Amino acid sequence: QAKRRLDYQPPHFFISTVDLSVKLEDPKTQVKSQLKVIRNGEHRHPLVLDGEELPLIDIKINANSVTRYEQTPTSLTLENVPDEFYLEIYTEIDPASNSSLEGLYKTENAYCTQCEAEGFRKITYFIDRPDVLSEYSVTIYADQKAYPYLLSNGNKVDSGKLEDGRHWVKWHDPFKKPCYLFALVAGDFDLLEDHFKTVSGRKILLQLFVDKGKAKRGKHALTSLKKSMQWDEEVFDLEYDLDIYMVVAVDFFNMGAMENKGLNVFNSKFVLADSESATDEDFFNIESVIAHEYFHNWTGNRVTCRDWFQLSLKEGLTVFRDQQFSADMSSRVVNRIKNVKVIREHQFAEDASAMSHPIRPDEVIEMNNFYTVTVYDKGAEVIRMLHTLLGQQGFKNGIDLYFKRHDGQAVTCDDFVSAMQDANQVDLSQFKLWYSQSGTPVVSVKERFDDATGEYILEFQQINAPTADQQQKQNLHIPIRLEFMCNGEKPSAELFELKQGSQTLTKSGFTEKPTVALLADFSAPVKLEFDYTVDALLKIALQSQDGFSRWDAGQKLFSEYLHGKTPAGSTFKVSLRDIDNLINGIFNDKQADTDWALLAEMLTLPNIETLAQQVSRYYVVELNKARKELESHIANTFSANFLLIYSESAQSGYKYTATQVNKRKIRNLCLHYLAKTDIGDKLVSEQFSASSNMTDSLGALKAAQSALLPCFERLMSEFEQKWADDPLVLDKWFALHASSEIPDILARLDLLLSHKQFNHDNPNRVRSVIGTFAFYNPTGFHAIDGSGYKYIADYLLKLDARNPQVAARIVTPLSQWKKMDEARAELMKHQLTRLLAQPNLSKDLYEKVSKSLSYQ
Ligand code: ARG
Ligand code: ZN
Repeated sequence: QAKRRLDYQPPHFFISTVDLSVKLEDPKTQVKSQLKVIRNGEHRHPLVLDGEELPLIDIKINANSVTRYEQTPTSLTLENVPDEFYLEIYTEIDPASNSSLEGLYKTENAYCTQCEAEGFRKITYFIDRPDVLSEYSVTIYADQKAYPYLLSNGNKVDSGKLEDGRHWVKWHDPFKKPCYLFALVAGDFDLLEDHFKTVSGRKILLQLFVDKGKAKRGKHALTSLKKSMQWDEEVFDLEYDLDIYMVVAVDFFNMGAMENKGLNVFNSKFVLADSESATDEDFFNIESVIAHEYFHNWTGNRVTCRDWFQLSLKEGLTVFRDQQFSADMSSRVVNRIKNVKVIREHQFAEDASAMSHPIRPDEVIEMNNFYTVTVYDKGAEVIRMLHTLLGQQGFKNGIDLYFKRHDGQAVTCDDFVSAMQDANQVDLSQFKLWYSQSGTPVVSVKERFDDATGEYILEFQQINAPTADQQQKQNLHIPIRLEFMCNGEKPSAELFELKQGSQTLTKSGFTEKPTVALLADFSAPVKLEFDYTVDALLKIALQSQDGFSRWDAGQKLFSEYLHGKTPAGSTFKVSLRDIDNLINGIFNDKQADTDWALLAEMLTLPNIETLAQQVSRYYVVELNKARKELESHIANTFSANFLLIYSESAQSGYKYTATQVNKRKIRNLCLHYLAKTDIGDKLVSEQFSASSNMTDSLGALKAAQSALLPCFERLMSEFEQKWADDPLVLDKWFALHASSEIPDILARLDLLLSHKQFNHDNPNRVRSVIGTFAFYNPTGFHAIDGSGYKYIADYLLKLDARNPQVAARIVTPLSQWKKMDEARAELMKHQLTRLLAQPNLSKDLYEKVSKSLSYQ
């Protein structure tokens, strides 16, 4: 059932042009496809087309009906076809009953498509693989009143009306593309328009389609799009290529968004925002996802993947690009911290589980399962390491060569690395192992200082332990940024390249032992082991030149203190006094009050999911308790400081600007702590009533939830009433309930699922209740009687039949039983076994559940 990367064979046929005609109607949408098929090379293989659940009405070769063909549930085979011919295929589909949200589906009021990775085969028979590139013409027919907008990729070339109230529009995309980039949308929308003038002087029409009545919430997305277009011109010399760029927001979407050529389709959550209904974080995410999809136009569309094992070629690179963009739009350090949190919290967890895979996987059952934090975010870290090793200019030269060589092609990760290598005349053969090797390397470091000679020696060792998918590991090429701090001197920074299993770095000329900050800027996606002294960590946290290192040292102190409170223990003895010293130092730090956002990060404890990845055993109850107690301690010890900053950072009005965002961030962090003091209930209620923006309203609700304040339920019902008709906003409310650490949480979940705005077919709703509970309710999900696990499994049994992609995402926490104590691990495996026993389990769930159960 699994496909293997090394089995790649070029396609037997190419399809040079596609002429699609889609007549939208329920329950029968007719799809007529005319393909120009060309044999690739000299061979006698039959033509095999992919197709899933497709009733075939007719099929013609060069206008003659074909009667001899072989059909299976997933393919159509034609023997003895000519070397070059026109193939016509008529199929019928029912988008309204397509609950998988893959292929062509109908949401409440629109039709739309999602073809990546292999959704096109649910629309029509095709050679559904990314190395078959074709020129598309698409004609869409639908009722004019209900579906005034009929959209597809490229340029609109013709349109007309029919007598029966229907109309049609024809589109042509001049750029050859794989079918996963095909898109079609039909519906009635509010349309926002704008223009962008490219560096070469072309005027691009920008169109944003949103639900009726939501136009005012689309402005930020359009502004973000213009910023992205400009940034890509300035930083990478990449200009947009069509004359029109369309973005459509839909309410039913499995993922974040999709980069279809000239016609992005977005989850409305990543488009719609205004100050009343969206948080600063939503504004940030919109800007970042809009940029991500826009950047795909070059890294993904102009140059695409040869096969799906190469997914990181476009995703890792595009995530890196969107991270660089976000860093330029706001604070580089705070963005870096955000990226690192994703790796430490989710990617390390994936590597520690049965789903461990290299950023370029070798074996896949269901491709949708590989849109992972490893492929995306670790993939971006690998690109970032190249950037670190080559420098911005060297990296840019590599990108230039990559486009020069491969524009218009479907290529591999090796091709990308070759371009980087050739443009810079460097040998990246060892570096390339990052693409093939899974797992989180451990870099273990020891220091020695010779008083007599002034020599300081660091001994590095890399440990690449076996993972679920791979026993043998090799040494990687690991860039490690270091900073040496000496009293009374300016710290010095350097880049060390660890390539061997053990390697030493010797520095001389010190008059005293320096303090070293290792892995500055998180220069490699590794775990670091180093016996820092508490004093060294305090020094780095308060004095390092590198904002990231300061934050990281503080996090280390918090983490070690917390693990010390659990049976996992800690080798360094961090005391509560040390924590107090750290926080005192942070508050007294002069630099901090100019950077509220970094201050807020420095004062935030690592979350429990991140803490779990730092130890081999996850003591969920003890860790959670220790974390809560430490927050209370900090809150009560430093209440005066928090209160002072809380009032200093007050502001009126709302604008999404860095200054305002950062102030709201520190202020809500202060509130989070103050909620745990005796003025908590009063302060939180006041902020909630006074707030006219979602960031501060939600900040109050979160503070109330985390401190289990009496006002929580009251504020939550006020919020619910206010937003009763706005499911996108209610998702925040659903999520807050689902993550509440209350004793009767399962009864609460039942209530949420029967809420009138809950919809089992909408992935955003399902994620906000079920996903949030599984990922972010440690005490409820890990209840020792196994009730949390059972709740999730029961839900997944139902969800899997409707939407396997979403089900397979939500099973993740259940599949990560490895770090739990024996009792919990058994209970988790019991639920996984129940899932596996389900008849007709999807490939998606099957792959994750079976792997997880066979993990030793
Ligand atoms: N390429 C899209 C993006 O990263 C994601 C598409 C995911 N689709 C899927 N079926 N998993 O922007
Ligand atoms: Zn992407």
